[in-house]
Amino acid sequence: MESTNVDVLFSPVSLGAISLKNRIVMAPLTRSRASSLGVPAEIAAEYYAQRAGAGLIITEATQISFEGMGYPRTPGIHTSEQLDGWRPIVEAVHQHGSKIVSQLWHVGRIAAAINRGKSADVVAPSALQAPGQMYTDARGMIEHDVPRGLEEADFARIVGDYAKAARNAIDVGFDGVELHSANGYLLHQFLSSNVNRRSDAYGGSVENRVRMPLEVLDALVAEIGANRVGLRISPGHTFNGIEESDMEALYTHYLKEIDQRGLAYLHVMRPFANTMESDVIALAKSVYSGKVIAAGGYDGESAAMEVQSGRADAVAFGQLYIANPDLAERFRKGARLNKANPDTFYTPGTAGYTDYPAITS
Ligand SMILES: Cc1cc2nc3c(=O)[nH]c(=O)nc-3n(C[C@H](O)[C@H](O)[C@H](O)COP(=O)(O)O)c2cc1C
Repeated sequence: MESTNVDVLFSPVSLGAISLKNRIVMAPLTRSRASSLGVPAEIAAEYYAQRAGAGLIITEATQISFEGMGYPRTPGIHTSEQLDGWRPIVEAVHQHGSKIVSQLWHVGRIAAAINRGKSADVVAPSALQAPGQMYTDARGMIEHDVPRGLEEADFARIVGDYAKAARNAIDVGFDGVELHSANGYLLHQFLSSNVNRRSDAYGGSVENRVRMPLEVLDALVAEIGANRVGLRISPGHTFNGIEESDMEALYTHYLKEIDQRGLAYLHVMRPFANTMESDVIALAKSVYSGKVIAAGGYDGESAAMEVQSGRADAVAFGQLYIANPDLAERFRKGARLNKANPDTFYTPGTAGYTDYPAITS
């Protein structure tokens, strides 16, 4: 029954300067197959090319500097070796007719410095350790490092790192970048009411807490043009110890500001698949007038409903794209879907990475 319904996902759409063959998006997915110096693995070209049935691929979160790296074996886009690693990936995806943007990442306090191939301070809006633990190759599960609170003198450097990363992305052939302002990492830490305890112009009121994310966004827009810049948010997502005591006021203000920038798209991740207390897609649509990618717990049918009803222009799939390299084709044919194996989400090598089967006919 659902096969007629999903047809709506197969119409082309333009997100700013990026034209998509369909409305199916591969969500950003950290897979930890890069080197400790953040150089993407060679097999990443095959992994992404296998998934190029998507209209748009958003890369795994990709750090803008060693300071922005927190987990083991995540890729960067700030050294020449890393850029050389990305070129064949971008080329392979383009050859298969898809578009690809680089998700630009700074983890802030969600870090263990021993995961980095090169040392750098762990930093955050305030010197508050994140709750919980993180995996390290060297010592297994350990507490997050206690971050150094950022000084105003740091800001220009970090904004500059983001802009340089965006320039690098365009130079290696990416179609654009997605600024990661979600899931409890640096920019979300600035937005939050509990992690950001600053008493200067970057903390306190909603207007102050959005200041750093907007400065970064404006730097990206100045560097590569608004029509190649997307932004990801996850309102209400408490991952990594985030609280937003004034979530609606915060995102209403943030999105009004973002709306004026004329970005390629806004990417909204729902906090808890299908069990949201508030409808964050509706919140975003009430303020934001540009193109929207929705993510979080969608299947083909629910995605088609979001597009059909005009709530989203495209829909991103995470776990389904890990397990189904040919997800778009499977949607089109109403084929059965493989299930993702969490045991191999972040393990090195091809198992659970490039070996999920495609349908044969
Ligand atoms: C293994 C894994 C890695 C992820 N890595 C990222 C990431 O690098 N950046 C990001 O913004 N979200 C990341 N996410 C969140 C996904 O992009 C997506 O929003 C989430 O999985 C919900 O969508 P789904 O229900 O379709 O999987 C990750 C999720 C998983 C399961």
